Amino acid sequence: MMFLLAVLCVLYVWSPATLTGGLGSTPNTIPRKTVAIRSNGGRLFREEGVWNYTTMLLREDLNMLILGAREAIFALDLDDITVKKAMVNWPVTNKEQKDCSNKGKDAANDCKNYIRILHKRNDDRMYVCGTKAFIPTCDYMSYADGNLILEGKQEDGKGKCPFDPSQRYTSEIVDGVLYSATSLNFRGLEPVMMRSSEESIWTEFSNTWFNEPHFIHMAHIREGESNPEGDDDKIYLFFSETAVEYDSYTKVDVSRIARVCKGDLGGLRTLQRKWTSFLKARLDCPIPNNNLLVQDVFHLCPGDWTTCVFYAVFTPQLDSSQYSAVCAYKIEDIQTVFSKGKFKAPVPVEKSFVKWLVYSGDVPDPRPGTCIDNHARKMGFTKSLDLPDKTLQFIKDKPLMDQAVKASGEKPLLVKRGTAFTRIVVATAMALNRASHQVMFIGTKSGSVLKAVNYDGEMVIMEEIQLFEPSEPVKILRLSNTKLYVGSEVGVVQLSISECGRYHTCLDCVLARDPYCGWDLNADQCSAINGTHRTRTSTVIQSLSDGDASRCPQTDNSKSVSVSFFHDNTVKLWCQPYSNLAQVQWQLNGQPIKASNTFQILSDSLMIFNASADASGRYTCSSVERNYKTQHVAYDLKMWSASGTGALLHDVKEKENTLVAMVVVLSLILAMLVIWNLCKGHLPLPFCHRRVKDTANRCEQSLYENQPPEHKPASTENLNSNNNHVNDQRFSSSQLSTTVGSLGQISLKYREDESEI
Ligand SMILES: *[C@@H]1O[C@H](CO)[C@@H](O)[C@H](O)[C@H]1NC(C)=O
Ligand SMILES: *[C@@H]1O[C@H](CO)[C@@H](O)[C@H](O)[C@H]1NC(C)=O
Ligand SMILES: *[C@@H]1O[C@H](CO)[C@@H](O)[C@H](O)[C@H]1NC(C)=O
Repeated sequence: MMFLLAVLCVLYVWSPATLTGGLGSTPNTIPRKTVAIRSNGGRLFREEGVWNYTTMLLREDLNMLILGAREAIFALDLDDITVKKAMVNWPVTNKEQKDCSNKGKDAANDCKNYIRILHKRNDDRMYVCGTKAFIPTCDYMSYADGNLILEGKQEDGKGKCPFDPSQRYTSEIVDGVLYSATSLNFRGLEPVMMRSSEESIWTEFSNTWFNEPHFIHMAHIREGESNPEGDDDKIYLFFSETAVEYDSYTKVDVSRIARVCKGDLGGLRTLQRKWTSFLKARLDCPIPNNNLLVQDVFHLCPGDWTTCVFYAVFTPQLDSSQYSAVCAYKIEDIQTVFSKGKFKAPVPVEKSFVKWLVYSGDVPDPRPGTCIDNHARKMGFTKSLDLPDKTLQFIKDKPLMDQAVKASGEKPLLVKRGTAFTRIVVATAMALNRASHQVMFIGTKSGSVLKAVNYDGEMVIMEEIQLFEPSEPVKILRLSNTKLYVGSEVGVVQLSISECGRYHTCLDCVLARDPYCGWDLNADQCSAINGTHRTRTSTVIQSLSDGDASRCPQTDNSKSVSVSFFHDNTVKLWCQPYSNLAQVQWQLNGQPIKASNTFQILSDSLMIFNASADASGRYTCSSVERNYKTQHVAYDLKMWSASGTGALLHDVKEKENTLVAMVVVLSLILAMLVIWNLCKGHLPLPFCHRRVKDTANRCEQSLYENQPPEHKPASTENLNSNNNHVNDQRFSSSQLSTTVGSLGQISLKYREDESEI
């Protein structure tokens, strides 16, 4: 047991150092706050017997979230997703399921209808596609009189929707026309990017265009709007694929960005009904010694199209426990590569081996891959069908650019070691001083969302919000004005994009550097920044780039909690700092406590082993973050004169803690045993009873005195109502054993209700 504790302690002491300084110069970021599931303030939607909630469409016009799952589509209230407005089932038939399993697919899982595409059409109806037991099928859907109605006009979904539900795909509706990237056949081969219209346009079937790709994201950028060069709108495609351009014996995957022009009609002879404007380039997110692959992309255009930025999350190809990163790409940098960069061309070397090198020959005019613009029109080409064969043949053979698209600032916005990033959305927040900041919400493989900002190159993760227990990868993120919707295979969670109430003190609020929040001196609370605050800034404190909390008022936390212990017992004193970035400091009678045989300093507590009379005194716990010191709690520790009793462990808790709940349940059982033992064997019953109760009262009172009001009832109630915990599924049995194991002994909690049992 001692060993275990020691290990825990060492881990705690060393982990910050190894994380920030380790592995060369690669930076890393620790979330300032970890928000547990039960305090995340989210709302969960899941329907009994339905899984795979991984397709979403925001209908702000209807104030609804349309949610696609396995064999079902839901219409949920956008303000409260636990309110189900409507639902429609779209199951596979027995025959479809049987045919599918006869072809060797898993009947119970794969041979179902996974909703994969949900788009709003111009006529207010929706377009929906599902995998339909490996026969991708699409239909029209409307919402009327409180019902979701599938029209039953089933259309072939090949090329729009994947056959295989486990395959990545992407699609976008542009001016009422569907663009999609997926594979065209049952075996998941024949990748294609297509536009579905009467005259559909496709990519060329050649591994020069797509080489075992994973499609990630598609985005329509309105570059045609008041464009001085008379250029066209573009549809960008993000994917990863096996590289053709590296001399490597092993397969190397790379991240790519490709694009086509909206007005592309294909060529007349060459590239007939194929994209004549398909160009692709490598997408670079530089982290030393890591080959990262793009996992998701979100684009944000604060103004016209020239302001558009793509935010992409990357994870390593092989070991996803390594670094994940976010890189941003400016539209102008992308444009430069495609419209001015050099091309790569295949050059045969030796026998049957092709090397891709920079193309240094003549580039035809009009330049291959450009949209029909003023220059082309001047030459007499008004549509792609007019383009000369020379230009078209060039693009058919050489769609790959030599140059990569570089990340903005040539470095990632965010790098983090540990759980892999899966999805990203980005919101713009207006700070107190009216500056705009891009707030990233990043989903992870372990079912949490990180909220992060990059302040002039400094990466700040404000929070890691835990959402699914047991952990479940985040599969989709959608953002409305004030809310975030997080989908996984097991359910959907709705979160607010800011929860300023989570910051309890002025220091906590200001040091969080959350652009949505500021400390309101008048209201004496951390408030969501609104227009009123911006007009009278003097009463609100916010310091985003510096984290300057010097204007915060001084707080008095000098009240102390009295704790008594028996000779030779182990005492645990709780102290949970607000922030993971804070350094905890314990003092005994004003002298700093160092770890020793007697004292172990844990992240949330101080353990005193074999406490003797010397251990008595005044203990204070403070934390220091960015040079600001907060005293969290003080304890007056005294030894009982009646000594030598059994294994009794005093345990006073500063504030709500995830593990405590479990301990309470255990303690309950133990408390009964111990009290029974004590009272029966060693001490007279009335004495024992009264003491226990006294301590409890005193502790509870002073512990919550300095907490904000909303904190009081919640935590007291939770800790005291044991029924909750017994039924609480958030605490798994593995957590239970860790609690017991790592404490080494069962802690006995002094709580009023327990002692009265
Ligand atoms: C659907 O959800 C179930 C339950 O979590 C999961 O086991 C399965 O892999 C999911 N299927 C797909 C295709 O994602
Ligand atoms: C701004 O927030 C404060 C609370 O901090 C509130 O009293 C005030 O009414 C809000 N103003 C607006 C315009 O919402
Ligand atoms: C505590 O006391 C026990 C028995 O008295 C002893 O075995 C153990 O080593 C002591 N632990 C420490 C940390 O001194």
